[in-house]
Amino acid sequence: MKTIDMNNMKIIKVKNYEEMSQKAAKLVEAQVLVKRNSVLGLATGSTPEGMYQELAKKYRNDEVDFKDVVAFNLDEYYPISADNDQSYAHYMREHFFQHVNIQENNRNIPDGLNKDVQASCRAYDRALEAAGNVDLQILGIGTNGHIGFNEPDEHFAVGTHLVDLNEKTIQDNARFFEHIDEVPKQALSMGVGSIMHAKKIVLLASGKNKAEAIRAMVKGPVTPELPASILQMHQDITLIIDEEAASEL
Ligand code: PGA
Repeated sequence: MKTIDMNNMKIIKVKNYEEMSQKAAKLVEAQVLVKRNSVLGLATGSTPEGMYQELAKKYRNDEVDFKDVVAFNLDEYYPISADNDQSYAHYMREHFFQHVNIQENNRNIPDGLNKDVQASCRAYDRALEAAGNVDLQILGIGTNGHIGFNEPDEHFAVGTHLVDLNEKTIQDNARFFEHIDEVPKQALSMGVGSIMHAKKIVLLASGKNKAEAIRAMVKGPVTPELPASILQMHQDITLIIDEEAASEL
């Protein structure tokens, strides 16, 4: 493991996916130890699966207690029911919530079915604010540089909003579906503004297919065309990336 600083970002370079997952779980554990009622910002996708497994193991071994933790997920497909096994609500139950003791009323995920999108996005932002905003935000990164489902655009979105998914994202996520036509075309996502309000951010990336997005995020200009680049302006951002993801730095 090697730590370097680049463009205001602390970069922890690890060997592989396993080491990335273990290191990320240790940071979450430390956060909850320091503040039992931490607000955790959580991500879905392949990247954090290993971290969730590590955290579940730590919970089983009595190393961490999530009783007072509040969780806010970054995003959800739209429209989708929480019962649908492609929903992020389902992902979170499968990969994390059913294995730990985060209380049901402390699990927040954007509502994939509410027809009044404006009202449900505003309600999500208000709930986040009422909880005091995120203490520790876990992020992955898309191959197109998205964070949450903030896709490349002409401006940065501030609050939770409805997004038309980018063609690249639909292609990338097709691996979770039987056919690419089944990938939802829209999603609800926390805004870049809400993400930037987190007190600490930890971004995880593994694999060669993330190397170019990581390079552009760390070394490129801050631009909404690569949403993750705004993280250069965050005061407490740590990247935990494996050798392949770091290969273009
Ligand atoms: P992945 O997605 O973890 O499945 O690669 C990351 C992301 O799109 O943010």
